[in-house]
Amino acid sequence: MVTVSLGVLVSGRGSNLQAIIDAINGGKLNAAIRIVISNKKDAYALERAKKAGIKTIFIDPKDFLSWQDYEQQMVSQLKANGVELVILAGFMRILTPYFVNAYKDRILNIHPALLPSFPGLHAQQQALEYGVKVTGITVHVVDEGMDTGRIILQRVVDVLSNDTVKSLSERMLRIEHQVYPEAIALYCK
Ligand code: GAR
Repeated sequence: MVTVSLGVLVSGRGSNLQAIIDAINGGKLNAAIRIVISNKKDAYALERAKKAGIKTIFIDPKDFLSWQDYEQQMVSQLKANGVELVILAGFMRILTPYFVNAYKDRILNIHPALLPSFPGLHAQQQALEYGVKVTGITVHVVDEGMDTGRIILQRVVDVLSNDTVKSLSERMLRIEHQVYPEAIALYCK
């Protein structure tokens, strides 16, 4: 089977990145992470990647006049490293049509809600405020809208009556770690 070359974009702690690294190392996902790119210098995700021997780069938004220039730099790094599929793992910027077209149908995102419910930021808080009894995880292809692309996999998570944003987010995160590698494997197949 072909090994798919991944590029992972991160902004923060990188627990989903870690789950993907672990799935690859455990033989559950036939892929290789060619590069991890962060828009935040102190993202813990960069440490996780380095520990796993993966190439990392921090691209400083301050070095670019526009977000489109920034995205061009990301695309050229991804292409230079042979990346076929881009994985957003807690990357907290919206990609413009330029980037989406450069990797058309080859960008995946994980979102902590059952899309199309609760897109955007603070999805778990939105779910609690609405009072839904179930929420969940969605892995989808990234298109030009916000959290609107084709859905690959979803998993339902119960909302408990005593849940806080913290307790719900933690329970959901454990499911995210199972679902993301599974969805990537499915999409690669
Ligand atoms: C995850 O919960 C992910 O679903 C969410 O950010 C967190 C990143 O955590 N993404 C979004 O909300 C995208 N709209 P991580 O850095 O530990 O993987």
